[in-house]
Amino acid sequence: MLEKIEAISQEISQYTVLSKEQLEQFRLRFISRKGIVTELFEELKDVPPDQRRAVGQGLNGLKNLAQERFESFSQQIEALQESASSRPPLDLTLPTLPNLTGTQHPLSLVRQRIIQIFERIGFNVADGPEIESDWYNFGALNFPENHPARDMQDTFFVDKTAGSRTGSGDMLLRTHTSNVQIRLMEHQKPPIRSIMPGRVYRNETISARAHCMFHQVEGIYIDRNVGFKDLKDTLYHFVKEMFEPGTQIRFRPSYFPFTEPSAEIDISCQICGGTGCNICKHSGWVEIAGSGMVDPQVIANCGIDPEEFTGFAFGMGIERITQLKYVVNDLRLYTENDVRFLRQFEGV
Ligand code: DAH
Repeated sequence: MLEKIEAISQEISQYTVLSKEQLEQFRLRFISRKGIVTELFEELKDVPPDQRRAVGQGLNGLKNLAQERFESFSQQIEALQESASSRPPLDLTLPTLPNLTGTQHPLSLVRQRIIQIFERIGFNVADGPEIESDWYNFGALNFPENHPARDMQDTFFVDKTAGSRTGSGDMLLRTHTSNVQIRLMEHQKPPIRSIMPGRVYRNETISARAHCMFHQVEGIYIDRNVGFKDLKDTLYHFVKEMFEPGTQIRFRPSYFPFTEPSAEIDISCQICGGTGCNICKHSGWVEIAGSGMVDPQVIANCGIDPEEFTGFAFGMGIERITQLKYVVNDLRLYTENDVRFLRQFEGV
């Protein structure tokens, strides 16, 4: 009998209860009038008198243990239910929390669009170094030795002594993407038809309208019989694809050391539609690119025969095109990484 009591007290000690139903099962098994403990009390009368005292004490201990356990289980269950009812009910129809993935930078969006437009008409994408020698950035492009663009005002020099093929021998951060024109023409045979997006640097004080680092896309087409008409056709096509329907385009005579003839390309202002505003300085037109027929001397500088091959080139600023497309009026926004700015381009 004492062993039985011991076994049942073990069972009670190890018992766990997690719900109201399990609590009720515990009560029925150990405490109720038909439970084990009551049954054992009934068996007490059959216990030999000399053991009765010890068994009685054991049974009383068991009864108390069952009662204590029952009370502590009841409290636990009550606490569990209270915390569950204080939580608001789970609403499975609520939308999920927004998943904050990053967005594409506006300059990336515009660069990709430019690439897409030119790839469709047969241009491939080329790349070149940002740290460049004076020769590729200036010399081969016909910039005279004393040209103001080489001035410390505009150019970040990296190493004044490192060697280059000709020219002053300076290493610098490229001031435009036109350096890649030279590298392509040096290493490839015509036909060459490439665009070259990339980052460029100029020694400017950072403000809303100027930055020391920005992006350009250069384009070049060199082959037999390439004429000014091909330049115009190509850029008309680009403007038609890139900007609003009805956008006007004009070629304005200009000068670049590496093209002859040269033209700057203006489009009707995307902000005011050509009626005049701050962006177009009330002229109705905004400049988007420089262009021209590649100077025969530049072609010859790269080891290609300018008698046989001609071509055009153009260069445009990605920030400028992004400004016109998305009305971004402060260049600093592009590099500040303010998510309030960047989030506006979600899903564009
Ligand atoms: N490199 C010139 C600049 O940064 C832009 C340019 C003008 C590029 C005429 C060209 C070009 O390829 O033909 O202002």
